[in-house]
Amino acid sequence: MKKIGVYTSGGDAPGMNAAIRAVVRMGVSKKIEVYGIYQGYSGMIEGKISLLQPRDVANIIQRGGTVLKTGRSAEFMKAEFRKKAADNLKALGIEGLVCIGGDGSFKGAHALWEEHKIPVVGIPGTIDNDIYGSDNTIGFDTAVNTALDAIDKIRDTAASHDRLFIVEVMGRNSGHIASYVGLAGGAEEIFTPDANTTVEKAVDRIKDSMQRGKTSSIIIAAEGQKPGRAYDLAEAIRKKSGLDAKVCILGHLQRGGSPTAIDRVLASRMGAAAVEALVKGQSDIMIGTEGPQLVTMSLEQVVKTEKKTSMDLINLATALSI
Ligand code: F6P
Repeated sequence: MKKIGVYTSGGDAPGMNAAIRAVVRMGVSKKIEVYGIYQGYSGMIEGKISLLQPRDVANIIQRGGTVLKTGRSAEFMKAEFRKKAADNLKALGIEGLVCIGGDGSFKGAHALWEEHKIPVVGIPGTIDNDIYGSDNTIGFDTAVNTALDAIDKIRDTAASHDRLFIVEVMGRNSGHIASYVGLAGGAEEIFTPDANTTVEKAVDRIKDSMQRGKTSSIIIAAEGQKPGRAYDLAEAIRKKSGLDAKVCILGHLQRGGSPTAIDRVLASRMGAAAVEALVKGQSDIMIGTEGPQLVTMSLEQVVKTEKKTSMDLINLATALSI
């Protein structure tokens, strides 16, 4: 293998730059030319591709976002545009790809392999940590710590005013951030798309805790939780109980910032392993983690399986919030 490409796709995640750096430098150390593909699949279709040298990825390991830019390409869902992208890669002699992204990005990568036999290795990069086949994704640890820092601050004001707060964290389809920050932030209730927390149960527990002397509470709600967005949840709580809940939506700030050491290490290991996998002739796989080990799983398996939110974490958070 003499030429490979690397791209980031979907929502950006802190640590993507560390992964790009690792791919470029591991590639160069194996005498491979590494091409950066800009703006994910859109750039692949439009031919926004250029050679990267080790110095091009200097001083990025500590930066959030992605120097390659990213996006969600609707065009790439159509076979004709995937063909255009594959033709661009073949014209440059690119013989393998490293895709850094989430579920949607891996579906595209898998299609490139199936339809055009371009070898591809995925690295899970998303703050959501919702990728089956890996305990952790790049960006999750940073996002959790960013959200936690905000929740700690909200707790100060909630306690000072004896208030109930709803803090909305990211996770359109997943509750991993919510369950982690809920437990780590000492939340009273956690709402996620898949948890069975209901407004009725939450209200009963909060009222009960007030009778036992608790004066302030924090509810963590993932974006995709069942009563809707955080303001809908606040309204449902008000209707049910008369309790006035203040709302704080953390939003995209969870996607930015300097990656934690955990994310930088994870990204560096996965980036290097992805290049090694391509060199060994592997394709259509994702590099993941299982405990401290790096493992691989077929992209097909990854994209068709859901990684469930840990109800153990949510139940523990509730049990400890008495
Ligand atoms: O990257 C994942 C994610 O951050 C989700 O948690 C969130 O729902 C979504 O992306 C938001 O995407 P966008 O920035 O495209 O609105």
